[in-house]
Amino acid sequence: MQINIRQMVLTVSNAVDLVGVSDVFHGRRVGMMAVECARTLAWDTPTQHLLFDAGLLHDCGVSSTREHRKIINELEWEGASLHCESGYALLHDFAPLAHLAPIVRYHHTRWQDMAALGIDPLVARHANLIHLVDRVDALATPYYGDESLLLHVGEIRDLINRFREVLFAPDLVDAFLAASAPEAFWLQMDPAYIPQYVDDMERFREVRAGTLEELKQFAFLIARVVDAKSHFTAEHSLGVARLTRFLGQQAGLTGNHLDKLEIAALMHDIGKLQVPDELLESTGAYSPAERAVMKKHSFATYQILRRIRGFEELALWAAEHHESLNGQGYPFHLQAREIPLEARIIKVADVFQALAQRRPYRAPMPVPEILTMLRKMQADNEVDGAIVDTVARHLDECRAAALGPSALSKPLS
Ligand SMILES: [Fe+2]
Ligand SMILES: [Fe+2]
Ligand SMILES: [Fe+2]
Repeated sequence: MQINIRQMVLTVSNAVDLVGVSDVFHGRRVGMMAVECARTLAWDTPTQHLLFDAGLLHDCGVSSTREHRKIINELEWEGASLHCESGYALLHDFAPLAHLAPIVRYHHTRWQDMAALGIDPLVARHANLIHLVDRVDALATPYYGDESLLLHVGEIRDLINRFREVLFAPDLVDAFLAASAPEAFWLQMDPAYIPQYVDDMERFREVRAGTLEELKQFAFLIARVVDAKSHFTAEHSLGVARLTRFLGQQAGLTGNHLDKLEIAALMHDIGKLQVPDELLESTGAYSPAERAVMKKHSFATYQILRRIRGFEELALWAAEHHESLNGQGYPFHLQAREIPLEARIIKVADVFQALAQRRPYRAPMPVPEILTMLRKMQADNEVDGAIVDTVARHLDECRAAALGPSALSKPLS
């Protein structure tokens, strides 16, 4: 599989932007504004690209819609450094993006504190520019939806200027004021024009093929972002991936095929980033409106993954984890003969892991009861009986895979 690193950056960014729920362009707008300021400062092209990427990914430590609302509604808030630190940790562990980690770490640090913290001066400037345009975007967000943005540009510019030297470096404030004087600066932030800007930025980017190892690390990064959404779903993706791999092995899959299946499982719930936290943590008895929102998530997974060249097949395996052999699943209503073995495996692993895990509205389900549940689903022709048979033969291994290595030491419930 030849996967290019640029597509990985954009995929992480697309996934993280989903957390915005109805406003999914925050990361891209921050990247664009940073580039516009960097051009005003006559910073070179590699630096513009660096800042664009930093803008795209600066909020990768935010998976929760609750936290996202704070980020958009307040200029500074208690606990802002949490998402900076988790974003730093995520990127730091993924070599192709590790150079962005320090910028992300300090993107809510006040300018006046940078020197005392001993932060590398160049990192400090880059991080501070992201901070500045991030706040500009937060201030502008209420006005993108209607026609009133240009009416509020003056107050946004004044507010940023008022915090010069305290929050923001004076020359960066000046660069922002110069860059944002023309209407075009603001008008290009319209959702209709954003994809073109991103295309222009990407056109001459150096593309490098990722190795299989990088691909796996990338899938782990995505899984960590998804699993950080709520502590109730912590490690869900990791557990589903481990169990999927185990069940795939039992079904006779090997080598790259097995790796690819594991990667699909790691990313199967990317689309859940768009589901409000309150819904994920509710009693599980959804209203029709809530059910409609939930049903969007596996389709969103499909839309994000299919953009990656080389991922076409894997995107389907991941997105079909709520399809049913009886044709009543979602989002494609596939018939049994259309559902590949890989998707059937992920579906069983997903059900098993979710039931084995504590959820806000119920305790972890004991393994024998999980099997009973799967047998019932089998009787209703929802899941593949052969895979359920495999689960039945290996109950403790499945439990250990679903809950992680630590589950091995606990007695089988
Ligand atoms: Fe942000
Ligand atoms: Fe799902
Ligand atoms: Fe899931």
